[in-house]
Amino acid sequence: MIVPIYAKVSYNSVDLCCDFLEDLTNHNKGLNHSFFDYTESKMTKNEWVEFLLLETIRNEVVDDEVAMMIPSLQHSMKQVMSSNLWDECGNGNIDNFHTTWLRRLLKSLNKDNDIIEYRKTKPWFTSITSNSLNSLLTTVGGVYRAYGHFLITESWVAPHFTKMLIGMENVGLTSKDTQLYFIAHKTIDPFHAAEMLSGIRKMKPQLEKKELKEIVSGACQAVAAGSVMYDELEKYFNEGAL
Ligand SMILES: [Fe+2]
Ligand SMILES: [Fe+2]
Repeated sequence: MIVPIYAKVSYNSVDLCCDFLEDLTNHNKGLNHSFFDYTESKMTKNEWVEFLLLETIRNEVVDDEVAMMIPSLQHSMKQVMSSNLWDECGNGNIDNFHTTWLRRLLKSLNKDNDIIEYRKTKPWFTSITSNSLNSLLTTVGGVYRAYGHFLITESWVAPHFTKMLIGMENVGLTSKDTQLYFIAHKTIDPFHAAEMLSGIRKMKPQLEKKELKEIVSGACQAVAAGSVMYDELEKYFNEGAL
């Protein structure tokens, strides 16, 4: 019988559970997925333009996803997600709203109108991670699983964006407006992931076993959802759907 990974974790200690989560952020199927090797060295310019539309659609709602976690959390977990939302809002500077960076990205590609039509026709599997997280955000009592899910996707950003930026350079997508969102998040999101882990460790009163299990379960859901989505994206682009 295959024992699910989350069944092997010690839930008797917050620190041991966080050690497991930290380890999971450094070792999981989505982290070094071959799709990102494809983006780094094989993706063509036309494919890049479509992939950047998909990245915009996936990321333009992250501020709201973060906001949806805040009402149900308390203490240090609420603190770190509030800080995360403030970062999403450019720390009060509208020019640094993360959605402003996405607008600049679209404009640099001359796609700020096309995205409205593209949204209606994009392949279903490109929303797997968003749908997976939103299934938790919209479930009563799902906030701890959503937090674990978000921890994983935040920790994926730097390794994924590093390869993507090399790929963008390779096809000549070198303008500051095109790259800004990705360059900025390479620095911001490892910090967000670390803050989320410390938010769990510092919770007072300490989280109970039940909540720790929920966080780990959400983290494992993100790994599964992301891995399937990257498999599908790799097939879609690699098999020349464009
Ligand atoms: Fe962001
Ligand atoms: Fe973030």
